[in-house]
Amino acid sequence: IDELLAEGVDGKRVLVRADLNVPLADGTITDDGRIRAVLPTVKALADAGAKVVVASHLGRPKGAPDPAFSLLPAAERLGELLGAPVAFAQDTVGPAAHEAVDGLQPGQVAVIENLRFNSGETSKDDTERGEFADRLAALADVYVGDGFGAVHRKHASVFDLPARLPHYAGHLIASEVGVLRRLTDDVKRPYAVVLGGAKVSDKLGVIDHLLEKADRILVGGGMAYTFLKAKGYEIGASLLQEDQIPAVQEYLRRAEERGVEFVLPVDVLAADRFPDLKAKAQEDPGTFAADAIPSDRMGLDIGPETGKLYASKLADAATVFWNGPMGVFEHPDYAEGTKAVAQALVESPAFTVVGGGDSAAAVRTLGFDENAFGHISTGGGASLEYLEGKTLPGLAALEN
Ligand code: 3PG
Repeated sequence: IDELLAEGVDGKRVLVRADLNVPLADGTITDDGRIRAVLPTVKALADAGAKVVVASHLGRPKGAPDPAFSLLPAAERLGELLGAPVAFAQDTVGPAAHEAVDGLQPGQVAVIENLRFNSGETSKDDTERGEFADRLAALADVYVGDGFGAVHRKHASVFDLPARLPHYAGHLIASEVGVLRRLTDDVKRPYAVVLGGAKVSDKLGVIDHLLEKADRILVGGGMAYTFLKAKGYEIGASLLQEDQIPAVQEYLRRAEERGVEFVLPVDVLAADRFPDLKAKAQEDPGTFAADAIPSDRMGLDIGPETGKLYASKLADAATVFWNGPMGVFEHPDYAEGTKAVAQALVESPAFTVVGGGDSAAAVRTLGFDENAFGHISTGGGASLEYLEGKTLPGLAALEN
């Protein structure tokens, strides 16, 4: 983007592909981190006199307009954060979008409606995606890719549109890639990785890759129970991906062979049902050894001994990457494990990276100061796929 700003953007229509996919509860944004993250790019362009058109997806609507996934709340929040009015177009590439863009003066900003209200955005068919990209291209003179959270998606606005316009990377993408390089090239050791979240199947690629890179892998969240089961433990009614057990056993074997320490929970909080996240009523979980969860209970957080163990494994690390909560942190009774890991990262002198999505939202909603971490990524899936060493369509398109 510095190159673009040096060339000058005064009066040009610059489309910024952002990731404004923020969590919403009853239409209210519960974490605006992704909107704040794109501000430097939007501000720099507006200050330089560009007509800024911000485009993003939100959620996973089915390729047609759906009011539950409107970008309007995100556009309003962007306006508040910019301290300037932001125009909002009620369609993405139709008459409203053209009207909003045509109405922009240099230095002004418009947000167009959710890209995924159009089936062409996510289509697997190159022609359909290309046609939608053509319609997006008609709204702009220049493309700036800054939606780091979506660079792993081969979608029209991420992959096909940059090929149709002069294209540049925004500040956010540049900074995210700079940070993630520190986790792949010349990593300072010991390198500890904490993985959580619900499904082990989402993390197989990254585990496979990290077995060659990391010194320690700590596992929590729903995915931990498949590991515990793979070790032959009783996990009661906890989340289990039975079909993944052979893969998990293979990873445990490879870890041992390579001298990578795999650390699993030693105790868990388990209850007889999943908590009601809306009511947030007090639950009554018990603490159980990780190899003796009663048959009618499900593990919902790592236990206090595991929290201490994980903190001790992080204390002397020089680099830490964390992706995925340790339990159902949205309920206060099951947030302690995630808090313990976040606190260990805050206290650690290591270079600490929190990898997007739920873990980024968790540290902010649990009240941690985001400046206490080395970096909080805006990309969940994107940061994992980067660490897996995959080619990310949105980055490849910008490099071309
Ligand atoms: C994310 O939340 O990880 C990004 O916004 C991408 O969203 P998606 O997984 O729906 O493509």
